[in-house]
Amino acid sequence: MASTTLSRQKAAITATGKYLPPDILDNKFFESYLDTNDEWILTRTGISERRILKDKTKATAYMCAEVSKSILQKKGMNPMDIDLIIVATVTPDMFFPATACLVQDMIGAKKAWGFDLSAACSGFTYAVTVGAQFIESGMHQKVLVIGGDKMSSIINYKDRNSCILFGDGAAGVLLEPAEEGYGILDARLYSDGAGQEHLYMKGGGSLNPSSHETIDNQMHYLYQDGKAVFKSAVTGMADTAFEMMQRNHLKAEDISYLVPHQANLRIISATAERMGIGLEKVGINIQKYGNTTAATIPLCLAELDEQGKLKRGDNLIFVSYGAGYTWGGVYVKWQ
Ligand code: UT7
Repeated sequence: MASTTLSRQKAAITATGKYLPPDILDNKFFESYLDTNDEWILTRTGISERRILKDKTKATAYMCAEVSKSILQKKGMNPMDIDLIIVATVTPDMFFPATACLVQDMIGAKKAWGFDLSAACSGFTYAVTVGAQFIESGMHQKVLVIGGDKMSSIINYKDRNSCILFGDGAAGVLLEPAEEGYGILDARLYSDGAGQEHLYMKGGGSLNPSSHETIDNQMHYLYQDGKAVFKSAVTGMADTAFEMMQRNHLKAEDISYLVPHQANLRIISATAERMGIGLEKVGINIQKYGNTTAATIPLCLAELDEQGKLKRGDNLIFVSYGAGYTWGGVYVKWQ
């Protein structure tokens, strides 16, 4: 008797969207008041400029709502059709309510529920994997996954070690049930809380609630031990990307694009080298936007999509590393 194997429903990325605030901070801006220069920033990080959301009345939810609206418009979709909104961010508008609730209200997705996910620079890798589970289980048909961060709200612009690295932005995807053989086919996610001491924002939480003391001690700003994070990130990203290739029997020539977290061009290049692929197969936009934390991967993906570079059947690897530590990889066969 012939037997048929039914493969589990997968989730496909069926649209991408992005939002970048209009104001630009270029390297010359930092030269004007800090002991740094364009050449150092460019050669050590790959960054030339970043976007900043200057309007004090707007924050992460606004940027994520703009992303959602652009996706709805592209798909010609009614916001009432959205089932779930997941926002990956470490710079929510407020501790509560969740940024996802604010986005839901801003776009009029009255039938959707939503929540925020905190995994810093791995926010999108985590969130897209979580979102896919709701499609795979059959519970939902349309899930918005947005990564957005207003990093300028937690950056100390007097700290040359960190302020030159980060920018503001948001981007995201729509997930829907995939056609057989396409979509998000694999994911590996990791965390190691022992890395917490190298990248954090200590103030404002329940351990160190905001007070004059936390402000005086500058605990409301991001702190990063760049060298320590670099060491872990460079091996973590490369190892995870390589692991995704091995698990899915992908050779270098099978990879269409690596879509990596954009923290440092040297980390991205090392990851590509480990995978055996040239930089022409890597999504890179760090020079224009810096590190936008949860937004980097969807931002890169949205730009590849806009440029018409993604074709049906393309093998894409997303890979990230960030505070926590958190890291992970996702393998997508583009539908
Ligand atoms: O997205 C989350 C994950 N984050 C990352 O993956 C970031 C990982 N880290 C990095 O990308 C790099 O470590 C940085 C770009 C942050 C720093 O680059 P580095 O090559 O590791 O530099 P360093 O920290 O070892 O500093 C080298 C020198 C130091 O001076 P001394 O001690 O050698 O005299 C720094 O004080 O460069 C100095 N320096 C700067 N000089 C000019 C640090 N920042 C600057 C600056 N301009 N902006």
